[in-house]
Amino acid sequence: MGIRFGLIGCGRIARRHIFTLARSNDVHLAAVSDIMKERMEEASRLYQSYRAETLAQQDELTPPQPYQNFMDMLANPDIDAIIITTLSGLHADITRKALLHNKHVVLEKPMTLSLAEANELAKLADERRRRILVCHQLRYRPIMQEIKRLVDSGALGRIHLGVASIRLYRSPEYYAAAAWRGTWEEDGGMLLNQGIHAVDLLQWWMGDVTQVYGDISRGSAKKETEDIALGILTFADGARGLIEANTITYPNNMGTVLSLFGEKGAISIGGTAFNEIYRWCTLEAGSEERAASLITKEDEHERMYGDFIRVLLSGSGQPLMNGNEGKKALESIFALYASALSRMPVSLPLASFVTTSMKEMKWL
Ligand SMILES: NC(=O)c1ccc[n+]([C@@H]2O[C@H](COP(=O)([O-])OP(=O)(O)OC[C@H]3O[C@@H](n4cnc5c(N)ncnc54)[C@H](O)[C@@H]3O)[C@@H](O)[C@H]2O)c1
Repeated sequence: MGIRFGLIGCGRIARRHIFTLARSNDVHLAAVSDIMKERMEEASRLYQSYRAETLAQQDELTPPQPYQNFMDMLANPDIDAIIITTLSGLHADITRKALLHNKHVVLEKPMTLSLAEANELAKLADERRRRILVCHQLRYRPIMQEIKRLVDSGALGRIHLGVASIRLYRSPEYYAAAAWRGTWEEDGGMLLNQGIHAVDLLQWWMGDVTQVYGDISRGSAKKETEDIALGILTFADGARGLIEANTITYPNNMGTVLSLFGEKGAISIGGTAFNEIYRWCTLEAGSEERAASLITKEDEHERMYGDFIRVLLSGSGQPLMNGNEGKKALESIFALYASALSRMPVSLPLASFVTTSMKEMKWL
């Protein structure tokens, strides 16, 4: 049967997890939980139909057990790992409880809405010898891993500047569809929700961030958090980063552009699904052809789960996107928010930060 997963939160993104699990070997979705019964039923139906398409063994088609209270699922000793796809404000509490019940955890981003809780969870996982996977799935995309390899090998020379341009659209209907979206208590702003993947990639490629100067503002959407985030980053080696992010790109997503400028090369990729290369200049022979062959491969979710499942089955090592890695983009974004609040540059590591402190923001 392999690893038995339980999924908590059967909303929008849960479908992606269900699809991936149904197509994976050595795993089974044994349980689902949501406070809304019909969402659990829908999740269960989806899993069974995907699974029936991909697996021959009929005994694998046992429907997931529904739990309206996730604590009852955590008490089931047959569940090995929990997938947390609830609203962000519940991530820390459910992860803590899952770890205390000795479950491994797949946790949607953002890991938490407070730095103290992110630190606590990473430490608790280590103490309990459980693994946390934080869903920054883009790190598993072949083209992103190729950029990491090239940067680490020196094929761009020293990197001087990294830029993330995040130009997305989220409609008033998107916020109206779930009350937690656009609030400091349960979501965080657009940088923490939509922009975090690009921030994670920049700091994965360029190293630890030591200082952030940032500003945020709101567009026309009637909500608490920012729609526009701007930041200047300093990395440990003195390189600079620029973040320019918004969710008011009318009338729909333009996409995200990620660019690295080094002394011997430059890379810039983008498009609505990172399917376009604007510049690919490195010291490595054949690099551009190789990049072109990797750009359309989009199996990052399966690769991410594959990494986690391998670690659990072998009982050793950590997934690439473990809890300690998950904290990094979080801390850079928290520093940008703290800088917007104080109107001063902010140094990392941060002593503490919680998104609700942004309620004090004086919007200009
Ligand atoms: N990795 C990515 O690219 C990505 C993409 C989208 C969303 N996300 C993240 O996934 C999370 C969920 O986002 P979504 O858009 O799917 O939200 P959603 O509102 O569609 O779904 C959340 C679900 O959680 C359920 N829920 C609430 N309280 C619960 C409880 N106590 N027990 C069980 N279920 C409960 C809700 O009923 C709902 O069905 C967010 O943290 C978001 O940031 C990540």
